[in-house]
Amino acid sequence: MKKLIILAGVTLSLLFAGCGEKQKETLSVIPVPLQVDLQKGTFRLNDQTWLWVDAPQQDRMRLEDYMAGSPLLLVSTLEEVEDNAVIIQQVDQLPGVTSPEGYVLTVTPKNVKIQATSGAGLFYGIQTLLQMVNDKNEVPVGTITDEPRFAYRGIMLDVSRHFFDLDFVKKQIDAVAYYKLNRLHMHLTDAAGWRIEIDKYPRLTEFAAWREFPTWKEWWNNGRKYKEEGEKDAYGGYYTKEDIRELVAYAQEHYITVIPEIEMPAHSEEVLTAYPELSCTHEPYKQADFCIGNEKTFEFLENVLTEVMELFPSEYIHIGGDEAGKASWKTCKLCQARMKKEGLKDVNELQSYLIHRIEVFLNAHGRKLLGWDEILEGGLAPNATVMSWRGTEGGIKAVKAGHRAIMTPGEFCYFDSYQDAPDSQPEAIGGYLPLSKVYSYNPIPESLSADEAKLIYGVQANLFAEYIPTPEHLEMMIYPRILALAEVGWSAPSRKDYTDFHARALKAVEELKASGYHPFDLKNEIGNRPGADKPITHLAIGKKVTYGPDAAYYPGYSAGGDSALVDGIVGGWTYGDKRWQGFIDKKRMDVTIDMETETEIHFIGADFMQVCGPEVFMPNEVIISVSNDGKEFTELKRIEHKVVKDDKVTFTNFAWEGDAKARYIRYQATSGEFGGFLFTDEIVVK
Ligand code: ACM
Repeated sequence: MKKLIILAGVTLSLLFAGCGEKQKETLSVIPVPLQVDLQKGTFRLNDQTWLWVDAPQQDRMRLEDYMAGSPLLLVSTLEEVEDNAVIIQQVDQLPGVTSPEGYVLTVTPKNVKIQATSGAGLFYGIQTLLQMVNDKNEVPVGTITDEPRFAYRGIMLDVSRHFFDLDFVKKQIDAVAYYKLNRLHMHLTDAAGWRIEIDKYPRLTEFAAWREFPTWKEWWNNGRKYKEEGEKDAYGGYYTKEDIRELVAYAQEHYITVIPEIEMPAHSEEVLTAYPELSCTHEPYKQADFCIGNEKTFEFLENVLTEVMELFPSEYIHIGGDEAGKASWKTCKLCQARMKKEGLKDVNELQSYLIHRIEVFLNAHGRKLLGWDEILEGGLAPNATVMSWRGTEGGIKAVKAGHRAIMTPGEFCYFDSYQDAPDSQPEAIGGYLPLSKVYSYNPIPESLSADEAKLIYGVQANLFAEYIPTPEHLEMMIYPRILALAEVGWSAPSRKDYTDFHARALKAVEELKASGYHPFDLKNEIGNRPGADKPITHLAIGKKVTYGPDAAYYPGYSAGGDSALVDGIVGGWTYGDKRWQGFIDKKRMDVTIDMETETEIHFIGADFMQVCGPEVFMPNEVIISVSNDGKEFTELKRIEHKVVKDDKVTFTNFAWEGDAKARYIRYQATSGEFGGFLFTDEIVVK
């Protein structure tokens, strides 16, 4: 299916506002346009409606082809037409529109006219029109003036952890272009498989693109071995140069730029097993980080990037830069020699040396460097753009230093996390990112000045695919959340309204399904964990809490500090929601609550969560005790719990029930053999 099907009768509804001529608009367009002024009446398309595209040749041909594949059956003409026509016209200037991607769509009973100052603007006007046509082929009379909030509106697909073929990627381009995204970032290389043909280094695709086990999880947990292409049970794949050319051209037809990501200096186990001489130890299967002391590393990276630049016209080349272990650099003779020679004081500066040098290379070839926010460590390369993923701090820092930033913070933009109650979903990496939370994101951090805010280039959703083995599953993780991201990236904050968006998203989900996509079943969304929607009340609320020796909470998971476990705020589906308090130091939690006076107590309990991927486990022992002097405690209950690893996110309440009278309550929990984090959200006392 090339284009999205427009579903009968669901794309437009009009409410009359009193008996005046104007109608209250309730257009079901995603992302919501900047300005909509609807009048009474409609233009009806029929089988004699003309299509006249009046634009420079390349855009004209692109847009005519696009329209020929759309559900609107128009008759193309090169002649100027007025009546019964859809006119798509590039103009030099457009009042009220400053972005080249903006457009004005005017509908009269006689015709539809889309005007913009660029092909992209015309394309976005077309997307709005396609979403406005109803089942009777009618479009409401009126004017839409629209332009994006951000110039960069992206989605990243991870095709390394699981390989997704060219047709599948093209299918996603169809859909995301329909929602006015304009960047496709391809995470082409990582430990789980190299995915792009490079003539100079054939082992990257003969070997590093293939592995044992079809799922990342089996591969990761069972030795992480690569295989030869064609070997029995080899899993993997790669895009040939021809595939990439086709992909880039297809994206261009949809006004989408494809940005390739080639990971360096880390996440490169597959390269360093195929070409071990590029690692510090020269041993296959041992290293994730390139040796930065070795000139051969630069020769390799520059050769690869040269072939990559030949294929991708994108102004940006993404060089990864994230999560380097940096350990081997500390003992590697060549790395140490490089540090000495270049006056680099630590391994962060060594990493920065590589990023700077690669930037010089890319700039010399007319390209710009884009990297994950770790490229800030050791000093940012002079012209680099930062993709802020570990929260927003990296983006803020980059912008304050005068660099552009693209915001992709995990909390709002990582679509690999659960979008609904985990036990209703296939296994994910963890987290909880429902549609409403994506929608709530504002990519401009409050701490920025108006001038700094201009350097926020845009926003992107990231689909890392460790736990996403199939195309259907990947689509379920993308849709409908990408619709929310599209509206975050395009629409003016004053135009956003979640209730209204939700209604439009429900319709869009049906449209996507009818077009052969596999979106999440939004209409049956369960929502956050019961109790997490509003504060609860119990006897210990607001009481003083002290933490035992060696049992402090981990500062990164404080849930608000010492009062968190008696604040009435219940945790949601993820320990990352700032409502769960985490304990990792000395593997235990030891909390005492002072009830202030001797109190009758009948229940003391706390929920814990387990999600094994990130090493969050249930306690293997819980002790609940009470005291009147805060020194001598009487044990009320000791709970032994066998911790069993599983693939789920689970919640268990460890509680005592009975009759007691005491001033102090002590709740202790200890980790079992797997260590990791303990997470609890509230000690409930009744
Ligand atoms: C990342 O998620 N490591 C960029």
